Amino acid sequence: EVKIPVNIVEVGPRDGLQNEKGIIPVDVKVDLIEKLALAGCQNIEAGSFVSPKWIPQMAGTGEIISRVRRLPDVHYAVLVPNQKGLDGLVSVLNAHNSSPDADSVPPPSDEISIFTAATDAFAQANLNTTIAESLAKLAPVARTALDKGLRVRGYVSVVIACPYTGQVDYKKVREVAKELFQMGCYEVSLGDTVGRGTPSQIAEMLEEVKKDVPVERLAGHFHDTFGTAVANVFTALEHGVRTIDSSVGGLGGCPYSPGATGNVATEDVLYALQGSKYKVVGSEYGNGTIDLEKIMDIGWWISDKLGRESISRAGRALRAK
Ligand code: HMG
Ligand code: MG
Repeated sequence: EVKIPVNIVEVGPRDGLQNEKGIIPVDVKVDLIEKLALAGCQNIEAGSFVSPKWIPQMAGTGEIISRVRRLPDVHYAVLVPNQKGLDGLVSVLNAHNSSPDADSVPPPSDEISIFTAATDAFAQANLNTTIAESLAKLAPVARTALDKGLRVRGYVSVVIACPYTGQVDYKKVREVAKELFQMGCYEVSLGDTVGRGTPSQIAEMLEEVKKDVPVERLAGHFHDTFGTAVANVFTALEHGVRTIDSSVGGLGGCPYSPGATGNVATEDVLYALQGSKYKVVGSEYGNGTIDLEKIMDIGWWISDKLGRESISRAGRALRAK
C-alpha cells in the first residue's frame, strides 16, 4: 500500500518556548533543536527575531541558530515580523558566510516565517498594525528574503475564532492567505490560534481558502485548547492538506491569545497517524519518519526543564506503559 506523505513542522522551540514564563537558557534551546533533528524532524522552527520588548523569551535566537550542530536536509526556520527581524537573520547568515566552516557546514537558517492575522484586532495585538498595513510591510520583506535564496512561509492567525472579536469570516482568511501566497510564500499555515475550532469548522474554512490557494500549499496549525486538535489534523488531511505544525510535548500558546494552550503535540499526531493511510516524512535519523519514542523522550526532557510533566496525551501514556 502506497502511503500518503505528511510533513510535520516542529514548532516547539518557537511557538512552544515563546509562551513560557521563565527564560530558558540558550544551551537548553540548542539541545532541544539538535534532539529534534536527531529524532527525524526535517522542518524545525528554531526561534524568532521579534522585538524582545514584546517576546523576551525569544531573545538569543541568533546565537542559538549559530550554535546548533546543523544536519543536512533539515530546514531551520525563524519567525520574523518585519524588516528589522530579517536584518537580524541576515547578519547571522553573513557572519556564517565569512567564517572558516562556511563551505562545510549548512547555514544557520534557510527559511523565514512571516505572519499576520485574519482580524484587525488580532493583528493589532500581535503586530501593532492592521492586516492591510502588515501585508504592505511584509511584501518587501518576503521579496528581499526570496532574493537572498531563503524560503518564505506565511502564517495566518485566528482562522476560526479571534480572542477579541469572536467568530472569524473565512472569506477574510482566504483573502489574507491568497496575499501571502502571492507574495511568494511556498506554504501558508492556517492557525487556529485560540484552539477553539471543531472539525466541521476546519472543513468549512479550508473549503473556502482552497478556492484561492492550492491545498498542497496549505498547512494546518492547531492549538489544542478544547481538545479538538488531533481531530482537526485528520480533518485537514482528509481535505488535502499535507503539512501539519505540531509541538513536542504539546508546548506552546500565543502570548496575545489569553487562555489558549499549546499546539497539538507532535507525539499525539505521530501516534494517531500510525497504521493509517498517511506516513509522516522524516530523515534517516528517524528511519524515514519521525521517531515517536524519541519525540516522547524529548517531550519529557523539555517539560522537565520547564519544571513540569509532559502534557502530550500520547507522551504520558507511553511513559506510563
Ligand atoms: P512596535 O512596538 O510597533 O515596533 O512593534 P517598533 O518598530 O515601534 O519598535 C519597537 C522596539 O522594538 C524598537 O526598539 C525596535 O528597534 C524594536 P527601541 O527603539 O524601543 O529600543 N524592534 C525589534 N527588535 C528586534 N527584532 C525585531 C524588532 N522590530 C522592532 N524584529 C513589532 C512591532 C512587529 C516589532 C512587534 O509587534 C513584535 O515584535 N511582534 C511580534 C509578536 C510575536 O512574536 N508574537 C508571537 C508570534 S506569532 C504566533 O505565535 C502565532 C503563530 O503561532 C500562528 C498561530 O498560532 O496563529 C505564528
Ligand atoms: Mg501558534
